[in-house]
Amino acid sequence: TVRRPLIAGNWKMNGLKAEGQGLARDLAQRLNKAGGVDFDLLLCPPFPLISTVVGAVAGSGIAVGGQDCHAKAKGAHTGDVSAPMLADLGCQFVIVGHSERRADHGETDALVKAKAEAALAAGLIAVICVGETEAQRDAGETLAVVSGQLAGSLPTHADSGKVVIAYEPVWAIGTGRVPTTEDVAKVHGALRKDLVGALGADGNGVRLLYGGSVKPDNAAELMALENVDGALVGGASLKAEDFWAIAQSC
Ligand code: G3H
Repeated sequence: TVRRPLIAGNWKMNGLKAEGQGLARDLAQRLNKAGGVDFDLLLCPPFPLISTVVGAVAGSGIAVGGQDCHAKAKGAHTGDVSAPMLADLGCQFVIVGHSERRADHGETDALVKAKAEAALAAGLIAVICVGETEAQRDAGETLAVVSGQLAGSLPTHADSGKVVIAYEPVWAIGTGRVPTTEDVAKVHGALRKDLVGALGADGNGVRLLYGGSVKPDNAAELMALENVDGALVGGASLKAEDFWAIAQSC
């Protein structure tokens, strides 16, 4: 199975209009100059910057996504944003179940699954995040935790064209600490098995991203692993040079 790598930048709650536009334009120019590349690029800015970024990358082939969506398509949910709204702005993707959402907003697997289903219903590709905490890792529960999260969060009508899975160990996010390549390979191998169990052979086509302190100097060894099909990049996605270097190491 050939899986085209996906390098996704999660800007989190960073950037004002001018910065977001500059970063997106810079990346669009680099991609344009490079001619053909064998990876896909995705930018996930905060909601207020989505229109700006969609405009800045227009025609470049760079995709844009939201960082979250509500499980309902519309209604009385003050402050929330729906999947159809993201699609309407020109998004093709949306991240759901990021550990910061699970921790800061108490999102459960069931809610993440409902959000992923809302994303699919709106024609978006859901980037579903899973990952263990440091305490769970120390207790030897990593594989059980991520398998449980995957089983609980995967939408009913998932297929390889509609979902991407991102493995992000919570303790590796923004810390500069990265699991060993052996540990990443083990988790991604287990997730692949789970995906094939859930989706049959099509599970082999689902892209499995690694996230958590991915930087230009560690990306190549992570991306070389068999079941690592790209990266979900936080901090390093805020610098065009670093994000581009990570993409090129695929
Ligand atoms: O979604 C991105 C991840 O949470 C990784 O963040 O690259 O800053 O560690 P980081």
